[in-house]
Amino acid sequence: MMKVGSSSSRVLLLLLTLWAAGSNAQLSVCGKAPLNTRSDTRIVGGQSAAAGAWPWQARLEIQGGLCGGSLISSQWVLSAAHCFKSTSTSGVTVSLGLQSLASSANLVSRGAKQIIVHPDYNSNTNDNDVALVQLSAAVTFTNYVRPVCLAADGSVFPSGLDCWVTGWGTLREGGSTSQTLQEVDVPIVSNSDCSPSYSSLTNNMLCAGLSSGGKDSCQGDSGGPLVTKNGTVWVQAGVVSFGTGCAQPGFPGVYTRISNYQTWINSQVSGEQPGYVSFQGAASAARPLAASLLAVPTLCLALLLS
Ligand SMILES: *[C@@H]1O[C@H](CO)[C@@H](O)[C@H](O)[C@H]1NC(C)=O
Repeated sequence: MMKVGSSSSRVLLLLLTLWAAGSNAQLSVCGKAPLNTRSDTRIVGGQSAAAGAWPWQARLEIQGGLCGGSLISSQWVLSAAHCFKSTSTSGVTVSLGLQSLASSANLVSRGAKQIIVHPDYNSNTNDNDVALVQLSAAVTFTNYVRPVCLAADGSVFPSGLDCWVTGWGTLREGGSTSQTLQEVDVPIVSNSDCSPSYSSLTNNMLCAGLSSGGKDSCQGDSGGPLVTKNGTVWVQAGVVSFGTGCAQPGFPGVYTRISNYQTWINSQVSGEQPGYVSFQGAASAARPLAASLLAVPTLCLALLLS
């Protein structure tokens, strides 16, 4: 009796272990950026990123348009729905391992096998602005090409939390796109503080705004990642979605709240699943609200395709 019981619970344990491993196959690799040396220093304003600093960053060229994305497994990239006028894969190129357009040193390039736009994406309100791109072939992870961890269902990103956004977007409103991957840190702005700026704000969105002004504050490509760090692990909180202009006071950037899409992403991604990390930021870690709101304001997101 006891023997039967113990062997069946061993089988159960084995099955549970296999299931857990299968459901989070990327957890041991995701979110690590061995070449990111700036991550512990808070630097205000945009700047060029070091090679390998953001190894999940993808550059998407879509029938002449430009967007960002993030590698979430060996064959899938997360991006924004509004980047895709159609789900046609022709004329779509995904570049990974890229820092400067002038160098192909660590470049890994792929076409798209499949583009999946969220079925409930609303182009009027930008609700559910999320899309997945299946690469034409899997990539091998290196220090320059690695997946990010995604924020798990129920994650909390408190007001004032420091996040980073990266992209090849314009350096100022109406300016030209950058030749080098840019990075900038921006604090989270709570939805209640952000909703006066955007009447269509939903709980599927997350706001973050740079607390310093100036022309260098205009960063980021649509579809690119907004990440924050817990220990040694980077977790993606948002996807660059929309915002009002560049350098306009009082308009934080709006991001797709990726923790609301764990079920959808898992139902669409074949093969290895992305790694999910629950981020439970404490509200006490937030910067004083008044300070971040007063300083806020100049933020820009390059909505190159909108
Ligand atoms: C960071 O990770 C640790 C260890 O996994 C966890 O206990 C903690 O809650 C995490 N912090 C946040 C803000 O999620």
